[in-house]
Amino acid sequence: MKLLDVRHLSMWIHDGQEEKQILNDVTFSVDENESVAIVGESGSGKSQLMRAILQLQRNKSRFSGEILWKGNDVCKMKEDALCSIRYHGIAMMMQEPKMSLDPLFTVGYQMKECLMKLPKQMREQQCLSLLKQVKISDPKRILHSYPHVLSIGMCQRVWMAMLLASEAQLWITDEPTSSLDVCVQAEILELLNELRTKTKRSLIFITHDLRLVPTMCDRVIVMKKGNIHLECDAKMLYQQSDSYTKSLLELEKDK
Ligand SMILES: Nc1ncnc2c1ncn2[C@@H]1O[C@H](COP(=O)(O)OP(=O)(O)O)[C@@H](O)[C@H]1O
Ligand SMILES: [Mg+2]
Repeated sequence: MKLLDVRHLSMWIHDGQEEKQILNDVTFSVDENESVAIVGESGSGKSQLMRAILQLQRNKSRFSGEILWKGNDVCKMKEDALCSIRYHGIAMMMQEPKMSLDPLFTVGYQMKECLMKLPKQMREQQCLSLLKQVKISDPKRILHSYPHVLSIGMCQRVWMAMLLASEAQLWITDEPTSSLDVCVQAEILELLNELRTKTKRSLIFITHDLRLVPTMCDRVIVMKKGNIHLECDAKMLYQQSDSYTKSLLELEKDK
């Protein structure tokens, strides 16, 4: 079943005086238990597409086309219905992980917010179990810590524990590991992949690192200047022969 179905989406942003077109006739979908990569040069509209899906800046955006979440168009939803989707349907992992966590509250407090359906006395135990699932070796200490004392990698793990605690069926990650060193990055991505597969969630994986695509994803969408340039099986990305995709792949070689 299609969880997310984006049809002929165009988006314009109003910044001060003028309106600028950011997305042009974007069509793609994400099925249950499917992982889709979005790649493309910087400024091609990857992050803006994600913001459109979550309707994060509707007051200064104009849309045409549809963004259907389980058949309902998010562009037409009232704010409270959207809030419910952001809490229970689609969860996002930020480029800057500390931004995802609230600096004013301990990890435990924030995790328990996701576990309100459980009886109060069971929440602490469930938090510890979730932190163990994201391979945190001293979950008690982390539970009582504030986000600012944690490393970026640890914040990512905590955030993944919160993704697991939430009912969200679609996870969206926007360059989730670009601020991490290579070893930690590999660990976090392996964990993300493992947890997603195990729990049958869907993923939109936004990245500029094409090397990650075949291991992380089933399909890939290549964006260029707000358009979908091509879409293919993730394993076929390296076989594409058009000049734009080839230039993105060439950039990888220089790293
Ligand atoms: N708040 C904004 N107002 C106007 N234009 C913006 C805004 N944010 C991003 N853009 C423009 O939207 C385009 C796509 O940006 P973005 O989605 O951030 O690219 P990517 O994530 O692929 O690097 C760029 O041309 C960028 O300059
Ligand atoms: Mg971006």
